[in-house]
Order: sequence, then C-alpha cells, then structure tokens
Amino acid sequence: MSRPTVVPFADEHLEAAAALLAARHAAQRAVEPLLPARYEDPAAARAEVEAARGTEGATGAVALVDGRVAAYLIGAPRGDAIWGPNVWVEFAGHAAEEPELVRDLYGALAASWVERGSTRHYVLVPATDPTLVEAWYRLSFGQQHALGIQEVPREGPSSAVGIELRPPTEADLDDLIRLDLAVPEHQERSPVFSPVPRPNLEELRAEWVADLDKSEEGLFLACRDGRAVGLLAVAPVELSSVHVGLARPDDACILGFAATDPGARGTGVGLALTAAAFEWARTHGFSTIVTDYRVTNLLSSRFWPRRGFRPTFLRLYRSIP
Ligand SMILES: CC(C)(COP(=O)(O)OP(=O)(O)OC[C@H]1O[C@@H](n2cnc3c(N)ncnc32)[C@H](O)[C@@H]1OP(=O)(O)O)[C@@H](O)C(=O)NCCC(=O)NCCS
Repeated sequence: MSRPTVVPFADEHLEAAAALLAARHAAQRAVEPLLPARYEDPAAARAEVEAARGTEGATGAVALVDGRVAAYLIGAPRGDAIWGPNVWVEFAGHAAEEPELVRDLYGALAASWVERGSTRHYVLVPATDPTLVEAWYRLSFGQQHALGIQEVPREGPSSAVGIELRPPTEADLDDLIRLDLAVPEHQERSPVFSPVPRPNLEELRAEWVADLDKSEEGLFLACRDGRAVGLLAVAPVELSSVHVGLARPDDACILGFAATDPGARGTGVGLALTAAAFEWARTHGFSTIVTDYRVTNLLSSRFWPRRGFRPTFLRLYRSIP
C-alpha cells in the first residue's frame, strides 16, 4: 500500500467513512452475528459517524491512499470527573481498510490531544478483529474493559443447593447497599485500581428505593442461611449507557450488576444468580444477553467468559506519559 496522506476529516469524506464503518461492522457480524444488522447499511453507519463528528470537542482525520479515503479516526472528550483529561474514540470512531493506517491517524491526532492536555485516551475496538486490536497495542494501548454477548442459554448454569433467590424489598435496603458497594470496593483494589467515586450513602439508599419500583428490571437477592450474600440486576439493554449504537443488539437484555459478598465468593452464589438472570431473560422474551466487565478485574473477567459471554468490543486505554 502506498503511504497515506493524513488530512482533517471534512464533510466530503463522510460517505467514504460510512462505507468503511459499514464494512467493518459486516466483518464483525460475520464473527458475531448477534450484533445489530442495520449498521451494515452505509446509511445507518453514516448517522453514527456523523454523531461522532458532531460531539462537542470532536477532532477527526482521514487517511487518503491513492486519493481515496482508506481510514478515518474521530476522538472526542467525555466528562473529566470519571475519565480524567480524556479523549474517547467511540464505537463508530474509526475504521480502516488496513489496520496499520490507524497508527498514522492516531499519530496525527494525538499530537493536538496531548497539546491541549487530554492525556488519557480510550478507544472502543471490535474484539473480533485481532489485527486491528494489535495495531492499537503497537501504540501502547492495553485492554481495560470488555463487552460480552451470548444467546440467552436454554438453561443453567447449575449451582449449589441452599441458596434462596428472591426479589429484594425495602426491608433489605442495608444489604442492598452493602452488596452494591462490594463492586467499587473490589475494583478500587489491585489490579483494577479503578478510581470510582464512592456514592453518598443517603443518595444510594434513595436510588435503591426508586430501583425497587422499576418493574422493567429483574433484581435478585441471594440468601444463604438467612443472610444476603449476593445481588444481581438484569434489564432491557435500552437502559444501558454502555451498550449503545453498533454495540446494542436487538431483542437484548443486559446483566448490568452482580456482586457476591466477599466471604461467600467461590461457593456458587454467582452461578445461582446467573441462572436466575438467564431464566428472567427467557421468560421476558429476550434472545440475547450482554454484559461488560473490567478486564483487569480478575474475578469478573474470568467469571463472565466462563458463563458463555463472548467479547464483542474492547475498551483500550493509554495514559500519557
Ligand atoms: C464475579 C462474582 C459476582 C462471581 O460470583 P461468585 O459468587 O464468586 O461466583 P461462584 O462462586 O458461583 O463461581 C465462581 C467460581 O467458583 C466455582 N464454584 C462455584 N461453587 C463452587 C463450590 N461449591 N466449590 C468450588 N468452586 C465452586 C464456579 O464454578 C466458578 O468457577 P468457574 O468460573 O471456573 O466455573 C464475584 O466474584 C464478585 O462479586 N466479584 C466482585 C465484584 C464484581 O467483580 N462484580 C462483577 C462486576 S462486572
């Protein structure tokens, strides 16, 4: 391939970028057909590229090879409170005929990102394209987070006896808060080191009171010998702010939260809760279930793939320096 010329992303490049994204998505669906079919249509892909370009603070570039658009890259900031001084390349933020071109585009754009102080870079990459993922690795990116997907299984997994599963009530609020906090408590520690701001306890209590009324959500409290030892939430994927756009399957629900009390981990509570989530998904007519997890979380990054979830997108992360 001849060396690319990198130029700023302009309106005249939209159609070609949309075609590249539609082709990327079609290739991804050949591996993972549960992803939504409509973005194989360049018109639908174009709307996603336009949205990425239209985000406040977005910057973009295209790689021209022999005069045609052979790759594009768009980055835009999210709020600093959670992500630090950042730039995100969202689900529709890049596509390339040749993965190597992404390195030219990043090289061109990252200069201005770093110059303006945006030193934390997040990129959502199809996990189904190892060559593309590898091109990002060769820019010093590493895996931080993964989205997983599977058909709702017909049964299981089976679990130890002696676990009672039931919907929580207001009488369980203290247990709900304890189990809710078990996730940030785990993820603050090594090797996740996620700086999740601790929620205010009164606000958290009020949120749980409101959540108990949400009829569209499946909530399961696992109890053993009368003690609450685990909690799981499952809901229509439309309630998710993570699984959006190209990553939002049709007829899907999301296993959005799961935690086992630290003292009860490894004894079958998670299996029992997962079985309840699958059962809920089946009875509510969902064909697909998704979840997501920190790749650096040693517990969840092993537990969910073993329950059948296949990675669809990886969030790669690079911090400079
Ligand atoms: C991820 C998490 C919810 C899993 O729950 P858990 O209750 O520990 O899960 P289980 O005990 O059912 O299963 C864990 C492992 O123990 C095994 N196991 C289950 N019962 C067992 C038993 N009686 N004896 C031995 N092993 C057992 C399971 O098979 C599983 O191993 P596998 O994945 O290799 O098959 C839990 O580790 C957790 O709360 N982690 C911290 C918070 C978190 O990461 N939440 C998820 C955010 S995405």
